[in-house]
Amino acid sequence: MADNPKILVFDSGLGGLTVHAEIVKALPHASIIYVADDAAFPYGRLETDVLTTRVVVVIGAMIKRHAPDIVVIACNTASTICMPVLRAAFTLPFVGTVPAVKPAALLSKTRTISILGTPGTVNREYTHDLIIEHAADCRVNLVGAPHLARLAEAHLRGEAVRDADVLAEILPCFKEKDGIKTDAIALACTHYPLLLDVYRRIAPWEVEWVDPAPAIAKRVVSLLGEHNAAGPLGRTEAVFTSGKTLPLSLVETLQQRGIAVAQGAELPFVPQ
Ligand code: DGL
Repeated sequence: MADNPKILVFDSGLGGLTVHAEIVKALPHASIIYVADDAAFPYGRLETDVLTTRVVVVIGAMIKRHAPDIVVIACNTASTICMPVLRAAFTLPFVGTVPAVKPAALLSKTRTISILGTPGTVNREYTHDLIIEHAADCRVNLVGAPHLARLAEAHLRGEAVRDADVLAEILPCFKEKDGIKTDAIALACTHYPLLLDVYRRIAPWEVEWVDPAPAIAKRVVSLLGEHNAAGPLGRTEAVFTSGKTLPLSLVETLQQRGIAVAQGAELPFVPQ
């Protein structure tokens, strides 16, 4: 593999940064283009055909512009529907992000788990098939959180987020029947780990919160192969499709994560 492979990391917004951080840890020499399709955020509310068309358009434009070696779809809402279409449309390798049903089932002692995702993700046949395949002996509670991705974005932008609003989104994950409680929750949206400290503080009881980001980074490494650790450190450039000026607090947060914001990559979202 090249000393500094070029990786395109894609999400509807800032959620993919949870995956980005793990990729940087695993491949510090990679050069990364982080694409946030904030013009179409949130993806969780979009119809599947609208979402698929949008993702193919944005990814196509970004591949043309940046010529990456690999593309990481750091978004469950997109991955659970778009991967076959993307793989058919483009020849380079793709890594997707799918609900961590299997690891949650493996961790659960009470055999009672919850899958916390966007409304789109929890409704997908793909997600239901994962449950049949990997958690058939568990009580599985699917929770589509309508506002949690937005709250996570607000938190990362440095805005105050009320505990009560976060609790309303995560509370349906906590089930108890005959003294048997949910003990593992899959974070099936890449935005959700951004609020992990808050969940741990306000959760009604302790559970395993399953974040698939390290596993995704591992998959990227395995597809790219070993890299030359003596090479120069990579850098990340972030592209926001809305072209809106970002609040200074967010620019600073991105800088702290070693990410510079690039201008001039607008891709307006006009659903047909
Ligand atoms: N980060 C995304 C995911 O993993 C989606 C959030 C949204 O745009 O609704 O599902």
